[in-house]
Amino acid sequence: MAFPLVSTLGEYHGRRDEARGDPERYWLRCAGALDWIAQPTHAVDANGTWFPDGRLNASVNCLDRHLETHGDATAMIWQGEEEDDVLHLSYRQLLAQVCRMANVLRDHGVAPGDRVAIHLPGVPEGVIAMLACARIGAIHVVLFGGFSPEAIADRLADSGAGVIITADVGRRGAKRIPFKATIDAALDHGASLPIRHVFVVSVTSETIPMTDGRDRFLSPLLSVASALCDPEAMEANAPLFLLYTSGSTGKPKGIVHGTGGYLLWAAYTHALVFAHAPGDIFWCTADIGWITGHSYVVYGPLANGGTILLFEGMPSHPHPGRWWRVIEKHRVTGFYTSPTAIRALMAEGDAVPERHDLSSLRVLGSVGEPISQEAWGWFHATIGGGRCPLADTWWQTETGGIMISLVPGAIEARPGAATFPLPGVTALLLDASGTILEGEAEGMLCIAGSWPGRALGIWGNEAHFHATYLRPFPGFYFTGDGARRDRDGYFWLTGRVDDVINVSGHRIGSAEIEDALAAEPAIAESAAVGVPHALKGQAIVVFVVSNGPAPDDILSRVARAISTRLGRYAAPERVYVVPDLPRTRSGKIVRRLMRKIASGDTEGFGDLSTLANPTAVATLIATVRPHT
Ligand code: WTA
Repeated sequence: MAFPLVSTLGEYHGRRDEARGDPERYWLRCAGALDWIAQPTHAVDANGTWFPDGRLNASVNCLDRHLETHGDATAMIWQGEEEDDVLHLSYRQLLAQVCRMANVLRDHGVAPGDRVAIHLPGVPEGVIAMLACARIGAIHVVLFGGFSPEAIADRLADSGAGVIITADVGRRGAKRIPFKATIDAALDHGASLPIRHVFVVSVTSETIPMTDGRDRFLSPLLSVASALCDPEAMEANAPLFLLYTSGSTGKPKGIVHGTGGYLLWAAYTHALVFAHAPGDIFWCTADIGWITGHSYVVYGPLANGGTILLFEGMPSHPHPGRWWRVIEKHRVTGFYTSPTAIRALMAEGDAVPERHDLSSLRVLGSVGEPISQEAWGWFHATIGGGRCPLADTWWQTETGGIMISLVPGAIEARPGAATFPLPGVTALLLDASGTILEGEAEGMLCIAGSWPGRALGIWGNEAHFHATYLRPFPGFYFTGDGARRDRDGYFWLTGRVDDVINVSGHRIGSAEIEDALAAEPAIAESAAVGVPHALKGQAIVVFVVSNGPAPDDILSRVARAISTRLGRYAAPERVYVVPDLPRTRSGKIVRRLMRKIASGDTEGFGDLSTLANPTAVATLIATVRPHT
């Protein structure tokens, strides 16, 4: 059974009212779109646990169950970095590959509940490894390719992973990214990590160092492994994966998603927002290291039996129209990307996409940051030919899938607005005191009640989940985002209201950067803020107070400390050495003021007399002014 279709406003209202009126009935009916080993008899219990008595296997839902109806249809098209490097895997073939990988893991002692880290470039093995873990009930922990060895070591330690799947190298244009060497460095750094096996995918024929007894190349193991593997019957609330993301504390959080509710949410939202139909070829450009890659490269479209496209390369290599070429060549029907990518591609000019036939496209989506009206308009007109609905989709790692978005056919777009909550989601705006705002308003975006895709918690730290998301406004899930609701009820996202910076769609906590700098002896104190940036959405500006006279190379020390601790994706745009940071009388650094000053906005600070050191503000302005 498929999800109930929504293609008119009437149907949309019908679903929304059903989900509100009788959530038990609505969600049990939606759950019927998945294949269960033990059908759930309840949708949600009093603790907000979804499908408490259901059992299922996520890989069976993404693969096996499609064999009967379309086993020879393409499940995955892989377009490699080289134009001629193309692989088509049918559902039958993908299942066989997943089973082989699952058997290799099982044979090496991986049991249900064990954590398996995946650190891979854009090769098919990434998707295969995720589904292989799901098949045997292991919890996958995909680690973004841009993390530094130290950042990887932290996440390995926190997750307690015993096995890593990586590659010799990744290909990025002509460059080679050292994946295995990064893992080696991470394991040197975390010498006490309990890693038993490192499995290596050979992307190229380069020779790389292998540690005896620990490191094994995967392909000889896969070639002798059986292509049949019994799936594990998992409880709906058994963790399917952990995914690390940043919040306003220094330590990254391992967000835990369960099997049943998460999979349902990924499939339900993919079906609704992208109006999934048989034969669709869906391309979500996200890296599988992020939640968008989990839900819309892998789980959503495969659970719905679609064809996914995976592209190894970059948008503009070897020519600026490479992405458009991929769409043209593989007849992509659904295309889901980020405002950062759209802005960069828009800057190449209209002539680039105009050279390609994009007529296969039927629906477009954007995610990760607020999208400007200009970028929305360009994407819609130039890429979508004005005929494809464009969904600006708002959601988070913690929500598992899309929460606020246009539903094609049902909702009329407004460029730059995420529009309305999906049926089953109750979004609210609250003011700082927790009062619910009605009608046209701007406030903090919260979600009432639960929804199937909500994260189970934070790995190893249940209390932290509660404190971060549920305590700020009791009774509601607090998103950390601000939003405006217009007269007609459309939601417009305005950005984070906490100390999370969004650089090209990557979440980075101010505290993570400040913690990285705290380890640098030359730096007494620092504050990191996000400022608007034309291409990246936001960029990082760091203020540092030097410990004694500033060494000549303080700027490069700052850059080095951040890229060592976190990775180059967190590199600051500007660094200022200042004598003092503005703080309240109780000693709290006032990042709000620094953000304003760093953005070049030097008026309307309000009452500064509550600061312990009001003169720090004038010094900051004088330091920043020549640069903005
Ligand atoms: C931001 C990515 C505006 C937001 C799926 C959120 C957005 C954070 C949008 C989550 C959007 C995501 N409009 N802002 N359409 N989508 N965001 O966990 O601040 O990597 O809280 O999940 O990205 O980032 P995350």
